[in-house]
Parts: sequence; structure tokens; C-alpha cells
Amino acid sequence: MAFWQTYYTPTSVEETLRLLAEHRPEACLIAGGTDLLVELRQGVRRAPVLIDVSRVPGLDGIGLEEDTLRLGPLVTHNRLVASQPVAERAFPLAQAAWSVGGPAIRNRGTLGGNLITASPANDTIPPLWALGATVVLQSVRGRRILAFPEFYQGVRRVDMAPDEMLVEVRVPVMASNEQGVFLKLGLRRALAISLVNAAVVLRFEDGVITRARIALGSVAPTVVRAPEAEGVLVGGPLTEEQVERAADLAAEAAVPIDDIRAGADYRRRMVRVLVRRALRMIASGGAGKGAIGSRPYTRSHQRPYLWGRTDGRFPRLAGKTVRHTVEGDEPIECNVNGKNRVVRGANGKTLLRMLREDLGLTGTKEGCGEGECGACTVWMDGIAVLSCLVPAPRAHGVRIVTIEGLADLIPRQASPRGGEGGGEGLHPLQQAFIEEGAVQCGYCIPGFIMAGAKLLEEIPHPTREQILQGIAGNLCRCTGYYKIVRAIERTGSG
Ligand SMILES: Cc1cc2nc3c(=O)[nH]c(=O)nc-3n(C[C@H](O)[C@H](O)[C@H](O)COP(=O)(O)OP(=O)(O)OC[C@H]3O[C@@H](n4cnc5c(N)ncnc54)[C@H](O)[C@@H]3O)c2cc1C
Ligand code: FES
Ligand code: FES
Repeated sequence: MAFWQTYYTPTSVEETLRLLAEHRPEACLIAGGTDLLVELRQGVRRAPVLIDVSRVPGLDGIGLEEDTLRLGPLVTHNRLVASQPVAERAFPLAQAAWSVGGPAIRNRGTLGGNLITASPANDTIPPLWALGATVVLQSVRGRRILAFPEFYQGVRRVDMAPDEMLVEVRVPVMASNEQGVFLKLGLRRALAISLVNAAVVLRFEDGVITRARIALGSVAPTVVRAPEAEGVLVGGPLTEEQVERAADLAAEAAVPIDDIRAGADYRRRMVRVLVRRALRMIASGGAGKGAIGSRPYTRSHQRPYLWGRTDGRFPRLAGKTVRHTVEGDEPIECNVNGKNRVVRGANGKTLLRMLREDLGLTGTKEGCGEGECGACTVWMDGIAVLSCLVPAPRAHGVRIVTIEGLADLIPRQASPRGGEGGGEGLHPLQQAFIEEGAVQCGYCIPGFIMAGAKLLEEIPHPTREQILQGIAGNLCRCTGYYKIVRAIERTGSG
């Protein structure tokens, strides 16, 4: 079944806006697709016309102009984490981006998509709210600039007309007398939606707090501020007594719901815990200095992105807008495992289905179909992605590597073990999986190997912590992970 009928890939903002104006309300923009494809698959959304903005130039910049960070909507979560200006001047945003999903989700998922989906649990909204960010919306009718409290109108509702698109996020950066922290509580460390999250930004003058902003996520229909807690902090130093009072008042600002993940009472208690923890981190001078994320690095600070030797940006598509229709036979032309392929009849499929059904490459597996398991991991233009969340027409004009092509594409000098493959036509990591006995039913293994091999390309000798981070988006229900981790360690130590 196709989730869309027509798929446009425009190559400019002007053309995107023209298409939106022409096809609204049937049309929907797609960036990384990590929210939208799940919603289409679950039937909670309809989008007969998809307009893929992920190859429009000029929308993925990270610029610092005087005291404002200007972020393009296509900046991915991993690029936010890797960005020096973001880490230095908007640290809570970098922390939030690092907490999103797993590495392959962060390679495709964008800041713009996260803000527009507008779930109160979405992680980049609270830090941007606390920093006082604005969004710039554009349509053929002109531009609008909105602050977050105006933009967010309810659960998954934003003030954006069907013909408008987000073109920029403007973030007033933190001054040297400001400190900020983002903290998140999920059911596990990766691939976990926030049960509660909190961003705290404080400004100090001579040891006295002169401005306090606390934004809370997943505890109300939209992200909310905690004005009473902020008020109690302003005008004095950050003492333990103030920390306790502010944490109590922040918990009162929360109006959470019971759902499958947590009860309302638990969420309210956790607001108190997170706000207290964030304030204590600031009081101890620890904010902004520690490692990003809930798993601090002990030996190395290089974070695994699974984008290999690229800078995490996908190449743009040159030329005019491309149109693929489910009924038509416009070809998807791409390079798969080093061979040029022309595929017809896959315009309404995901890349995963195209690889398996049209190209016979069944090594790539479907576990969940919703980005949760990593079994479908492939490389797209050198970057690890989840093929179940990539529309097949997005593969037009790109290079794909699947498990079938992995060993052939390893140049002699780039092999982590220095050889060509691991013997018998295998990548060294495939060989190590065999030697470590890291396979039981085998269903998850292609995904682990595609993630692990990309990690080794990026960090040839990863630490245990880096390995755990690199495969955080891959699930195995049989092996218990120890042997998988050992196989990657073994390859990386060669
Ligand atoms: C397994 C999994 C784990 C996840 N974990 C987290 C998590 O921990 N924290 C979290 O916050 N999120 C999480 N997400 C959600 C998702 O990855 C993020 O929200 C992501 O940032 C969405 O970006 P995208 O580019 O993929 O958006 P898309 O899916 O492409 O689009 C999302 C929405 O934004 C609209 N849109 C996109 N770009 C624009 C634009 N420029 N202008 C106007 N509208 C636009 C689309 O029309 C659509 O409505 C997870 C998702 C999955 C599948
Ligand atoms: S992540 Fe794609 S099938 Fe599970
Ligand atoms: S080996 Fe069976 S799911 Fe991993």
C-alpha cells in the first residue's frame, strides 16, 4: 500500500512554496521523515502529495550572527550536537539534540521536523523556549516571525498555515554570565520519548540571579514555563534552599496526564527531581562543562554520529524539481552497492521495500518498520540511515550501500584491520561476528553490522562507551549484546 500518490523533490525554496500553494491542503512537507512516515504508517495522517525539502539548498545552515544563532530547519540532530557554536552558545540545545532517538534517527531527523511535529515531549522545544527562540515562516504571501508562546497552540498544533513552511530558527545565544542545562527522563537511555524533560537557563550578575527561565516538556499540552519557580530564583544567589523551593514550584506548574509510559503523579515528582538536579548542576558550576547526554564519556569525547567521513550533510539534488507518482513509471535512478540501478514501480514504497522487493537485496531486514529496531540500517550517501523511514523516491540520485555490498566497498587501506575484507569476501566486522559467535537468529545482525562498520570508519578504535552509543539504535532479542559489542571491539582493536 502506498502512503502517498505524488512525491515532489524540489530544488529551491521558491519552488517548494509554489508547490505548497498549488497543492494545499493535500500537500505535506517531508524532511527526514522520521515523524511523518511513522504517522502515515499508523494511519494517523494522510498526505496524498509529499514535498521533500531534504535536498533544498540553503536550509541546513548553522550561522552565528552577533548574538543570534541562525539555524536552518534541515539541520539534523547530529549536526546540532557536532556544532561548535551550538555547544558553546546554546548548550542545552546540543544536549537535547543528543538525547533524540539513536544515531541513525539523528542523522535524518531535523530540527524543523521536531519543532513542527509539536509534541510536548519533543526534546528540542524546551531548550529553545528557555533561550527565547523565534521561528521564521515563509509562504508565497510573505514572511512571519513568531515567538514560541505564539507559535505553539496546543498538542501537536502550531500557528502555521498549510501554504507556509519553516525556513529559519533564530536563537538568542547565551552570554558569558548565563548557564543552561537540559535534562531528560525516558524509559531507557536511547530511543526513548521523554517522560519529562526540562531546560533551565539562568543569568547571573555578581552572584545574583537576574533572569531565570525554566521550560518543561511532556507535562502539559504544550511545553510550559514555570513562572513561579523562575520568580523565586530571581533577585538572590542560587542557594540550596532556593533550589528546593524552585523545584517544588516547578512541579506545581506541571499539569501532566497519565499514559502508557507514566502516571501524572510520577511525572510531577520527576519534574521536581529534574529541576532540582539542573539547578544543582548550575550551582556547582557543572552546567555546560560535562559531556552531552545521559551517558558521560570516560575516555574519549568523540561522539559517534554514524556519518563516517562525511560532515553529516546529504548532497543536494541539482537541476529541476523531480516528480515521482505511484501510478506513473518515473524511474528512481540510484547507485546501489557500486552498481547503477534504474527502478520502476517503487515510487510509493519505502527504500527498505524497494531494496528487498525490487532489487532482491533481502539482507536488509524489517523489524518494526517504525525506526525503533535498526534492522533496516543502510548507508545513504555515506551516512547510516533507517531504510524503513526513507521514501524510495528519496533515493533518486543517491548512493546506497547495503549489507550485500559492504565487503566489496572496503578499500584495502580503509579496512580497520588493514586487509581487504576479513577473508572469504567478508568485511572484517562480519568475520569478527562469526569468530565471536555474535549471531543467534541473525535477524538483527545486518543492521548491527551496518551501524558497527560505519562506527569503525568514523572512529577506528572506539571505546566501549563509543560502541554502546554507536549501536544504541539497534535492538537484538537473542544475543544479549555482549558478543556483538566484543565483535566490534575486536575489529577496532586490530
Ligand atoms: C524511533 C524514533 C525515536 C525518536 N526519538 C525521539 C526523541 O527521543 N526525542 C524527540 O524529540 N523526537 C524523537 N523522535 C521524533 C523525530 O525523530 C523528531 O521529531 C525529528 O526531529 C523529526 O524531524 P524529521 O525531519 O524527521 O521530520 P519529518 O518527519 O520529515 O516531518 C515532521 C513534521 O514536520 C513538518 N515539516 C518538516 N520540515 C518542515 C519545514 N521546514 N516547514 C514546515 N513543516 C515542516 C512535516 O510536514 C511533518 O508534519 C523519534 C522518532 C523515531 C522514529
Ligand atoms: S528501524 Fe527500520 S525496521 Fe526497525
Ligand atoms: S540475533 Fe536474533 S535478534 Fe539479534
